[in-house]
Amino acid sequence: MATTINGQSLLNMKAVSARTGDLPPIPAIALQALQLTKEPNASARQLESIIARDQALSARILRIVNSAMYGLRREVSTIAHAVAVLGMETLRSILMAASVQQVFQSGGRGQDLTSKLISDHSWGAAIAARIIARRTRYEAPEEAFLAGLMHDIGKLVLKKNFADQYLNIVSEVYRGDTSFDDAEMVFFGFTHAQVGALVSEKWNFPPQLAFAIGCHHNPEAAGKYTKLASIVSLSDAFMIFLEVGIRKNKQLHLEKERATEFLRLDPVAVSAILDEVRASLTRMPE
Ligand SMILES: [Fe+2]
Ligand SMILES: [Fe+2]
Repeated sequence: MATTINGQSLLNMKAVSARTGDLPPIPAIALQALQLTKEPNASARQLESIIARDQALSARILRIVNSAMYGLRREVSTIAHAVAVLGMETLRSILMAASVQQVFQSGGRGQDLTSKLISDHSWGAAIAARIIARRTRYEAPEEAFLAGLMHDIGKLVLKKNFADQYLNIVSEVYRGDTSFDDAEMVFFGFTHAQVGALVSEKWNFPPQLAFAIGCHHNPEAAGKYTKLASIVSLSDAFMIFLEVGIRKNKQLHLEKERATEFLRLDPVAVSAILDEVRASLTRMPE
């Protein structure tokens, strides 16, 4: 990745990484799935054989596949069937989401409220990003879905590494006193988007994904990936406006967002997209 991301020099990023504590390794299966899609002749069978090695993960993936999000009429009970019905690209996104959930889930206990809200927000942003991508003719809508899904991964790292401090930030944001960025700058001197960029780098995400994650609060800093970063940024704003997640703000002026400007969406287009997003936010996967 380039030496600057999110307006920060590499030096600053090093300072950030010195303070974030250990970044989790990429789940082995997620890594293989990402690599697989780089191969032009990758087959559904190969993806299936990667997933089949982990029973718990397979079960988790099937739960997501059968959730209301994909609106399948008949229950899907095998990974092969899921690939046939949803396609390889979609399955890869679901696999990434499921394996990330596994990494950050705290010791087998049920999901805590913060994790649940972050998870809902991420799924919602993923759905919104795909809709925005289609409406703005972005060439890879499923990539936008994945970027939306992963955009707040930095929050999961901070929550894991600084549990108590992060809980304070979460409550401040929940009460509406501040935004994540502002509170994180005060507490840590860096933001979850920067941490997300570090994780993306460590996990060898493709550059467009890394930049979209790292610049989702300032898409103009994403250089040639500004369009994808803007799509993710706007999907995030939609979730805040629709109150999906920890931060809620019904007064947010979506038509004035920088991302809206970059995507050249007029107010009529924004409200049409918002209607479609709202209609698509059915029950989130758990
Ligand atoms: Fe964020
Ligand atoms: Fe977000």
